[in-house]
Amino acid sequence: MNIEKMDEFFTKRVKIYDEYMLNVDGCRQSYKKMASLIPPHTKNLLDLGCGTGLELDEIFKVYPDINVTGIDLTQAMLNEPKKKYPNKNLDLICDNYFNIDLGKRIFGVTISFETLHHFKHQQKLTIYKKIYESLISTGAYYRVRLFCYKSIRRKF
Ligand SMILES: C[S@@+](CC[C@H](N)C(=O)[O-])C[C@H]1O[C@@H](n2cnc3c(N)ncnc32)[C@H](O)[C@@H]1O
Repeated sequence: MNIEKMDEFFTKRVKIYDEYMLNVDGCRQSYKKMASLIPPHTKNLLDLGCGTGLELDEIFKVYPDINVTGIDLTQAMLNEPKKKYPNKNLDLICDNYFNIDLGKRIFGVTISFETLHHFKHQQKLTIYKKIYESLISTGAYYRVRLFCYKSIRRKF
């Protein structure tokens, strides 16, 4: 899916998005798990493809004062955490995370939840390099991919 199609796809679905995701088997638990993986004392967290902020809902429950930078190319999705969290340390950037400079040695944790699977291996390598450079020396990156379907064909 190209970037314009992606924007269109999520813009059309934004109203039903949260309810849909929270009813997918294992999804709610995965948001909680993601929050539990964040080390205490993490100051700055980067969320790539943060969408409506479902993972942030859980993270803010555990770390209400954490500084979050959320990047998402779909403005309609980003409007949701903006409305939900006017008083949080939340910097929302509407852009393509492949194009944006993520900076150097800034984030204690970077996360991406259900967002990178659309892209090719080579593109993932590019973003992984940028993520690595943007992390502090003790930093960590967590990626969640919920639905992994593999099709195996057997030839007789
Ligand atoms: C399935 S949603 C996941 C949203 C959120 N992480 C969650 O788990 O609810 C995928 C999100 O990634 C965003 N996205 C996909 N590719 C992107 C890119 N290259 N740059 C920025 N955002 C991107 C989409 O706009 C969409 O909001």
